[in-house]
Amino acid sequence: MKDLLKKVEELKSEIESDINVINNADNLEQFRIKYLSRKGIINSLFEELKTLDASVKAQVGKELNLLKRDTETIYQSLLEKYSEKTEFKIEDATLPGRIYNIGTKHLITQALEDIIKIFVKIGFKVYDGFEIEDEYHNFDALNTPEHHPARDMQDTFYLNSEGKDKRYLLRTHTSPGQIRVMESQSPPVRVIVPGKCYRNEAISSRSLAMFHQVEGLYVDKGVTFRELKGTLDYFAKEFFGKNIKTRLRPSFFSFTEPSGELDVECYLCNSKGCRVCKYTGWLEILGCGMVDPNVFEYVGYDPEIYTGYAFGMGIERTLMIRHQVPDIRMFYENDIRFLKQF
Ligand code: PHE
Repeated sequence: MKDLLKKVEELKSEIESDINVINNADNLEQFRIKYLSRKGIINSLFEELKTLDASVKAQVGKELNLLKRDTETIYQSLLEKYSEKTEFKIEDATLPGRIYNIGTKHLITQALEDIIKIFVKIGFKVYDGFEIEDEYHNFDALNTPEHHPARDMQDTFYLNSEGKDKRYLLRTHTSPGQIRVMESQSPPVRVIVPGKCYRNEAISSRSLAMFHQVEGLYVDKGVTFRELKGTLDYFAKEFFGKNIKTRLRPSFFSFTEPSGELDVECYLCNSKGCRVCKYTGWLEILGCGMVDPNVFEYVGYDPEIYTGYAFGMGIERTLMIRHQVPDIRMFYENDIRFLKQF
């Protein structure tokens, strides 16, 4: 028995010194064959163990088992260290790396932020309206009578049918924001209302069922049409560049009187006339006008004391002109090749 116990002790130190020189997968494998394989040294000692007396078998067996377990544990950890799988090899350090697309703000968000900055610089505050509105704020209080075509089912997404309850809808423009602001504060007010609008439109290269507008409203004593024109000129120069040509054309909106539309020169034909501008040389970007006295009556402002102007611009339209985007749908297809350019 003494002999075998001594052999186990000797084996232990032999294993230890062998472990110290292992430095790659090859000599680790040799180590495994020498000690841990079926015909390895540890197993051969187990064979010898069988010949011992039962009285001493237990003690030597215990030592031998411990040695086997420790050796296996060390082997496993070295295997992980040296195995092919975890070895890190650089095949060709000159290969180009992977290209990741880093997220940026969407073009529409960037434009809204630009527009907000332009108006904040001249004293406008930002008001967040509601995307779900009621008929009163979207139409009635904006002096749009009951049988006005804009209220038609074909244009407006109604959320409930007519009944004794209030009728809700998805706002068709940001103008109800004007009413909300005037209801909640007295003049002077100078705000812009950016946000999403919805119309039940046939989808085409020029229109979508969801789009963005920025509304503007300025009410005080003695506000004039001239100030409206000056503000819009300032905006166009800041947004499109100093050399942009604009024109103001008479128009009609039920909540402004007089009303106008602002056109900028057509980017495609340099105002010479083409299909995009329908041979006029101009593209419309916003509607505007002096707030109709009837609207002031709805919100409780005295039209004898106050005047004001309002405007509402379409963001997608405006961006199509600034960046020469040929199809409005490109804003929402999320094609990385398009978005990356901004
Ligand atoms: N709300 C109008 C539209 O959607 C635009 C507008 C806003 C016109 C404010 C005049 C004043 O077309």
